[in-house]
Amino acid sequence: MKIGIIGAGAMGSGIAEVAATAGNEVVLYDSYVAAEDKFKKGLAKNLSKLVEKGKIDDVKAKSIQSNIHFVSKLDQFKGCELVIEAIIENLETKQEIFSHLESIVDENCILASNTSSLSITAIAASCNKPERFIGIHFFNPATIMPLVEVIPGVMSDPKILSRGREIINSWKKTTVVAKDTPGFIVNRIARPFYGESIRVYEEGFADFATIDWALKTYGGFKMGPFELMDFIGNDINYTVTETVYKEFWNDPKYKPSFTQKRMVEAKRLGRKSGKGYYDYSEGAIMPEPNKDEELGKNIFWRVLVMLINEAAEALYLNIASREDIDEAMTKGVNYPKGLLKWADEMGIQHTLDTMDRLFNEYHEERYKASVLLRKMARDGKTFY
Ligand SMILES: NC(=O)c1ccc[n+]([C@@H]2O[C@H](COP(=O)([O-])OP(=O)(O)OC[C@H]3O[C@@H](n4cnc5c(N)ncnc54)[C@H](O)[C@@H]3O)[C@@H](O)[C@H]2O)c1
Repeated sequence: MKIGIIGAGAMGSGIAEVAATAGNEVVLYDSYVAAEDKFKKGLAKNLSKLVEKGKIDDVKAKSIQSNIHFVSKLDQFKGCELVIEAIIENLETKQEIFSHLESIVDENCILASNTSSLSITAIAASCNKPERFIGIHFFNPATIMPLVEVIPGVMSDPKILSRGREIINSWKKTTVVAKDTPGFIVNRIARPFYGESIRVYEEGFADFATIDWALKTYGGFKMGPFELMDFIGNDINYTVTETVYKEFWNDPKYKPSFTQKRMVEAKRLGRKSGKGYYDYSEGAIMPEPNKDEELGKNIFWRVLVMLINEAAEALYLNIASREDIDEAMTKGVNYPKGLLKWADEMGIQHTLDTMDRLFNEYHEERYKASVLLRKMARDGKTFY
């Protein structure tokens, strides 16, 4: 199958490698002249690491390389069955590229965007055939993260959605279907992991190390929120938060924090800049957490109920199915358990009571319990 990828940056390169590994012929295009050289060097490095680890042999590595053709013109996208766009996050630029592309590809070619925050429907609206347009959202790094969110726009043909999903599944990825709303599943539901943890810090209850320790120890999260923000990059994480907040018409529960904004302004971006919430320079000493059991459990429980509340609200608003919500959080951000499953284990009534207690204490919108939790507690129901 011939697959087209537009944009050879962090995401496009990874998606091209995934598609080529699955045996497809890939055409890759980028408007930046130096992109080809950067891509080829990056791919060679990735593949030699895989060979070293014994995950693939030399023959496979060569076949992956020869499956990818870096092209200088979109004209060479003729004959593609699917084109995934992964260029800069700008609506007009994306719309322009798709109107041009539509004049090149065949009528039945599926068009998709890897956008994290733009509306799929808005990008599709620039096409003559918006019914063949869907969102196909990979996670970074695309070669490693198993999850892909597939998003129909308002005008998407359900047959195109199923076909698109089938193709991505054949690349050994796990697909979930999300409604075309800001943050789709993962980037929406994960907001409190960062936001509530920062809030706990801002209120002076605990420092970064203690909050990270609490979520890892009592929640089983592989990384604490501050370690994870440093890993993702505070600039990237802040932009996602800011975009989700704006796109939800300034819904206060998604409000970004000054703590993170100042980190970005100070260029404390995390691991990539050598300093973020933690210092990564050589010889730097990691701060010790305050391992107080009661404090740790309180922090963990506060963040977890906020996450569960967000997951419940997403289910209530039909953003995705119960199974897809749980799968998205375990495969997209490595949560130790699906949040809805976790809610059942913790008890729906207990989760609701904790939300209500927070709301009574703060009188802030962010602590408003999802109506779904309230109905379920009243009717004695569980998610599973
Ligand atoms: N980085 C992430 O964590 C992540 C995760 C999921 C989705 N996304 C989304 O994927 C897309 C790409 O993100 P990225 O992180 O790979 O960005 P990036 O900056 O690493 O790469 C973008 C590439 O697109 C090229 N480009 C820009 N305009 C172009 C045009 N008009 N035609 C052809 N090429 C063009 C650039 O030269 C660059 O190589 C964005 O829509 C982003 O929202 C990013």
